[in-house]
Amino acid sequence: MSAHETLRVELGKRSYEIQVGNGLLPSAGERIKPYLMQDRAIIITDENVAKLHLNVLKNSLVAANIKCHEIVLPAGEQTKDFNFLQNLVSQLLELNVERGTTLLALGGGVTGDLTGFTAAILLRGIDFIQIPTTLLSQVDSSVGGKTGINTRHGKNLVGAFYQPKLVLSDIDSLDTLAKREILAGYAEIAKYGLINNAKFFEWLEENGAALCEGNRELRRQAVIISCQTKANIVSTDERETGDRALLNLGHTFGHALEAEAGFSNRLLHGEAVAIGISLAFDVSLALGFCAREDVKRVRAHYKSVGLPSHPKDIFGMNWEIPSLMRHMKNDKKVKNGHIRLVLARGIGQAFVTDAIAMENVRDTLERITHS
Ligand code: GLY
Repeated sequence: MSAHETLRVELGKRSYEIQVGNGLLPSAGERIKPYLMQDRAIIITDENVAKLHLNVLKNSLVAANIKCHEIVLPAGEQTKDFNFLQNLVSQLLELNVERGTTLLALGGGVTGDLTGFTAAILLRGIDFIQIPTTLLSQVDSSVGGKTGINTRHGKNLVGAFYQPKLVLSDIDSLDTLAKREILAGYAEIAKYGLINNAKFFEWLEENGAALCEGNRELRRQAVIISCQTKANIVSTDERETGDRALLNLGHTFGHALEAEAGFSNRLLHGEAVAIGISLAFDVSLALGFCAREDVKRVRAHYKSVGLPSHPKDIFGMNWEIPSLMRHMKNDKKVKNGHIRLVLARGIGQAFVTDAIAMENVRDTLERITHS
């Protein structure tokens, strides 16, 4: 077996390991076996990921004497809904899934979220293992146990906190991703530096571009630090009653932009996060929390790797401020005209506040979006 780094999400009896390294997928069977209650697993993946990685995973399971089935879903966010959930549950029951059967989520955030939620509700809860193959899912969605589906009322409104038994992140699986997808994941990596690790952000300023271009060692190091940061935060606040909200830096703005862009390919989640984080720093500056130099560094960094940092960087979008404000209000973070936001006192000094007046947010959005 090739070497890997092991991190831990400490959650008492529900603690689990994150294994990060190169060449993990070909030996996934051996790695997974100690975590199975029976020598049987069911892989859930999508058509795109299946073409690239399904055979490697299946061969490794067979080599480890693990019986496996696979369910291949269409690629895309549309599978995170009640219909696909119902179909998936039916297919699993037809395969005679048992309490001791483990689901393996092979793919990106959509596959992980849907598989995790299915595992949470099927037979009142069966085990699942995350095998994330995108940068975004390796550094964010596969860790921390947020699972769920979308409804017509909004994204991720139905779900459960349900932790995996293991996360297996093979850095080599990132090689097949399009640059735009790497960048979308990178936006979240930079987020960890901006939340509470100024040294990591400095390291990214030096190494981010090469990481995005494909340097595997830099990717490995960045995934490890990102997962460690997230694991530490989740360990102290699994259900987001406190510090876990820091992980939403840039997300309130980002979700509003995504909603306005129709959750389409025009604006990927990570791109929206990069712009949203820059806007959170704009608001922080406008309210006197951080220095202009901090905002400049954030924007300069996202720009240097090729990410947008400004609403106007998204070609063809004419952002309507009232509409963006409405989306933010719908995010259920507004009380008595004040919004819950993650702001920053500087690089690596994010904090959560409930006390920001909507007018301040609107003024900054108007100034920035129309500048
Ligand atoms: N993606 C934010 C969280 O897991 O809390």
